[in-house]
Amino acid sequence: MSSDIHARLDGLPGFPVLAGRRVRLRDPCPGDADAVFALFSHPEVMRYWSSAPMRSRMQAEGRIGEMQDGFARRESIDWLVAARDDDRAIGSCTLYRFDARHRRAEIGYALHPDQWRRGLAREAVSLALGWGFRSLGLHRIEADVDPRNEASRRLLLSLRFSSEGLLRQRFLIDGRAADSEIFGLLHHEWSPGPPRRR
Ligand SMILES: CC(C)(COP(=O)(O)OP(=O)(O)OC[C@H]1O[C@@H](n2cnc3c(N)ncnc32)[C@H](O)[C@@H]1OP(=O)(O)O)[C@@H](O)C(=O)NCCC(=O)NCCS
Repeated sequence: MSSDIHARLDGLPGFPVLAGRRVRLRDPCPGDADAVFALFSHPEVMRYWSSAPMRSRMQAEGRIGEMQDGFARRESIDWLVAARDDDRAIGSCTLYRFDARHRRAEIGYALHPDQWRRGLAREAVSLALGWGFRSLGLHRIEADVDPRNEASRRLLLSLRFSSEGLLRQRFLIDGRAADSEIFGLLHHEWSPGPPRRR
């Protein structure tokens, strides 16, 4: 299938809001600053993240601006994961580093620890993957994970990603080196059905 990712991104009528059973993926707004700060300042969330935890609410405001700019420039789709019942932001999910020639993108995600182990990340990431494959025509979606991050590894494996290799000391975070395990999922491997049983 031939596809021009940039044309599809440029042709979006607005920010793509995706609705699941328990979460909704929506655009960020200035009113989300407290929730974004609560997420990206939490030591458990940031334990294996590729940057240091936020230290001030202003950083969250700046991050929301970057998320909005990324979409305006069609360089990233930075969703906030919102609870279906009250629309409060409980996490984030991002498709970024679009490579149109190879129909490839990367995915990243985080959920507030209050919401862990309820299947919400799986639901949110599934929505983003489905949209990336179907609406953008992506051929491959990648994720890079600190190999000590068992929750993220398990999430990706349950979504049929394959572990494809280890890049040593790829990140230096606050002076400490961290390895990076690369995961990949091809369009024909993607299925929104129940998790793969191991
Ligand atoms: C990774 C993260 C998003 C998972 O969120 P979650 O909502 O708890 O995940 P889910 O409940 O949807 O679970 C998805 C799968 O991962 C497994 N899993 C989740 N947390 C786990 C843990 N701590 N240990 C082992 N497995 C775990 C679940 O059992 C499930 O597997 P299954 O479908 O085979 O049963 C969450 O831990 C997080 O936000 N971590 C901090 C941010 C982060 O590290 N992001 C990734 C950077 S690469």
